[in-house]
Amino acid sequence: MLYPSIRDNISPNAVVAVLGKPETIIAFSEYLLFFDMSKLQPDIKEETYQKAISKIKNLKDKLTLDLICNTLYDMFENWNFCGFYILNDNELEISFYKSDKIPCSPINMGGVCGQSLNSRKIIIVPNVSKFHGHIECDPNSKSEITIPFLNYVLDIDSKELDDFDEIDKKYLKEIIEMI
Ligand code: SME
Repeated sequence: MLYPSIRDNISPNAVVAVLGKPETIIAFSEYLLFFDMSKLQPDIKEETYQKAISKIKNLKDKLTLDLICNTLYDMFENWNFCGFYILNDNELEISFYKSDKIPCSPINMGGVCGQSLNSRKIIIVPNVSKFHGHIECDPNSKSEITIPFLNYVLDIDSKELDDFDEIDKKYLKEIIEMI
């Protein structure tokens, strides 16, 4: 394998020679950690939601849950699930969705979706492995947001940790209010 052999044979002195002093290297790596390229920067995220909303608005009377999932899922590369669960007999059954994998269904009310519907609150989970009751459908899901409305929950999973924030909350709420 090419990469391990290069990496294993590279000397610390060679790294310093290419990149400069150790303090520069440390500052640069801290900068890279801060500027996490795997997550959308806030302005790009806002712009993406605004584009999605304008597409959704154009659908007018043709607007369906299915089209909302499709439109959103196609615009956010980090997501691995976007779907609606519906309450049925104290369980949640999958309704429309777009996903890398077939989601689990039905799920009990103790997970993020169930807690969100019971409390009627939007829940943002920065790290699903730390959320008590979280139901894992896909091991690639790292963070999650749920938006309850009527007897539905819009559930979105991301492959990135801490991927959802107040921007997602604001725009997803706006989209749900259009239904
Ligand atoms: N994580 C959810 C289950 C649904 S999947 O994420 C698609 C929950 O805890 O309710």
